[in-house]
Parts: sequence; C-alpha cells; structure tokens
Amino acid sequence: MSILVTGGAGYIGTHTCVELLKENYEVVVIDNLSNAKKEALNRVEKITKKPIKFYQDTVLNESALEHIFQENRIDCVVHFAGLKAVGESVSNPLLYYENNVKGTITLLKVMKKFNCKNFVFSSSATVYTAENPILINEDEPLGANNPYGRTKLFIEYMLKDLYASDSSWNIAILRYFNPIGAHPSGLIGENPNGIPNNLMPYIMKVATGELPCLGVFGDDYDTPDGTGVRDYIHVVDLAKGHVLAIEKYSEPGVHICNLGTGVGYSVLDIVKAFERVNGVKINYEIKDRRPGDIATCYADPSRAKKELGWVATRGIDEM
Ligand code: WQD
Repeated sequence: MSILVTGGAGYIGTHTCVELLKENYEVVVIDNLSNAKKEALNRVEKITKKPIKFYQDTVLNESALEHIFQENRIDCVVHFAGLKAVGESVSNPLLYYENNVKGTITLLKVMKKFNCKNFVFSSSATVYTAENPILINEDEPLGANNPYGRTKLFIEYMLKDLYASDSSWNIAILRYFNPIGAHPSGLIGENPNGIPNNLMPYIMKVATGELPCLGVFGDDYDTPDGTGVRDYIHVVDLAKGHVLAIEKYSEPGVHICNLGTGVGYSVLDIVKAFERVNGVKINYEIKDRRPGDIATCYADPSRAKKELGWVATRGIDEM
C-alpha cells in the first residue's frame, strides 16, 4: 500500500511517516515547506533506513496532485497539510480558509478522480465548544471560536456531506488534543518558525536561551494550581494512532475518534516535569489569561481504545 502524507515534513507528519515506514508502507510526501524543512524528511529516512518519495508543492496545486496520483499507486491519503496558528488565523482568516478548506477540497477532488477513497483527516480538539464538560467524548457539541478551528470544523462537515453523497468513501476524522514530545532519536521534533504559540515549543526555546522567559497565561483558573489544564499526548503515540486508523478503519463510513490520553496536566505541571527531566531551570512569569483559553480540557479516549485498540502509553516525563 502506498500512503500519500500531505504536510509530511511537519511535526506530526514526520513522526507519522516514521511509524508508517516501520510498518512497511510505501510513503509519498507532498509538502510546500512553508513551516517545515526538507532536512526533517532526510532524518526520517535516516531513522527508518527507508526511502520517502517527496514532492515539494502545495495541495492547492491540482495539477501537481494529479501528477502524484499518475506517478504513484496511492491507496490512502493522510492529510496534515494546513496552517494551524490560532492567532494568525484571527488576523488573516482568508489565508486560513484558502489553505485549509480550499486545499482540502482540491485534494478530495483529485482523490475522487483517481478513485482513491481512503482518507485520514488531521482534526483537532479545537472543534469542541468551550462550553463542553471537562472530559470530552466524540459526541459532545461542536463549535469553534476562531477561524483556524472553524476551518477544521468546516472540513469535518464537508467530509460528512461527501460521504452522504457517495458511501464508498472511507473517512477517518482524528481529533488531536495537545501533541508534544519527540522521537527518542532526537533527530526529529517540533521546530516552528518564529515565536511559538504553543506551550511546549515555547518552553524549549526558553530552555535553549533563544527566549528569555515563559509567560504563563493566567494562574487564576479553577484548577488545582490555577494554571490551564490540557490533555498532552506524546507525538509518537499520536503517530501510532494514525497507522491503526489506516489498518482498522477499512470499511466505508465516517469514523470519528479522539486521540488523547484522558489525563490532564497544568502548565506548571509541564514546566516542573521539563525542569526535572532535563535538569534545567525555566524562567517564567504569570501573565494575564490568553483570550479564548479555557480552564480545563481533556479527552475521553475510550472510543479509540475500543475501535482501534489504541491507548497512549507515554507519560509526562517521556513527553
Ligand atoms: C496550552 C496551555 C495556555 C503558551 C492549541 C490550539 C489547538 C491545538 C493545540 C492545533 C494553555 C498555556 C501556552 C504560552 C501558556 N492546535 N500557555 N504560555 O491552546 O490548548 O491548543 O494547540 O490543532 O487547536 O488551540 O495549546 O499549547 O497553546 O496552550 O501559559 O506561552 O498552555 O494558556 O493553558 P491549546 P497551547
């Protein structure tokens, strides 16, 4: 089976390519390298000692996608390619709707043309409304409060409508909670351009001295230590969930699954674990709450266990 991984040079994409290659899938990657480096794919090949066929292009380029499907027997597409900075999506929504939504439409049209109907979509816990209970299962109400989250939500609705129009599609919608950590080789990991939006890459830049101090966005939430609580999941566990989704979701349908640990950790839990495991001190100061943040959120991962036989096994120290 040949798997096309869009955005395969990115953080979650590279870790998923490693797990796919380890399972002897042939991997083809399309990535425009807007937030990734080709070197990351060279390191995936180094880790696995297996080749990746790489096309530097965007999923918005219909003829480039057709060329890939003409040159390769693609059996399934894992779709990571997309923009994901919440703040940037607020200041530049059209960029997000064009890249994420129009890019997915173009990809699905080419898949249909080549009769490739197996699709794994990288969705996000951001599609759940902020009013949901703390422990979130897949049937909770949906609603996004920023353009980035709305692109994920709109794509989910598009996929459900696509299946309703043609029940030969086999679609997996995987909703990630907070991916952190890296492959144990240390050769691949998260290395976003610019000032990181997310907690862990920011901590890492403070640890390396690239940034002076971590701002903790609020310590007056209704949580054990007052700081925000999230469901952090090791990116290798997340990557393994994708391989299982390809293997277990073999029948047509729309299969929706949370990928989280079901355990919540606070910002200060993460800071303290990072300091303990790495023997470093992380300077931080308490700042105002970040608009749009909620106090606590973590997954009910029971459907992934039941349907995929998947459980996150890596704990906070390994992350
Ligand atoms: C985690 C916690 C912050 C940065 C986001 C997206 C979501 C998904 C995952 C793509 C919160 C606190 C953070 C900092 C801080 N991405 N924090 N100082 O907001 O849970 O989810 O990333 O799908 O769509 O919304 O993750 O890492 O930004 O924040 O105190 O410099 O860390 O308040 O409590 P979040 P995050």
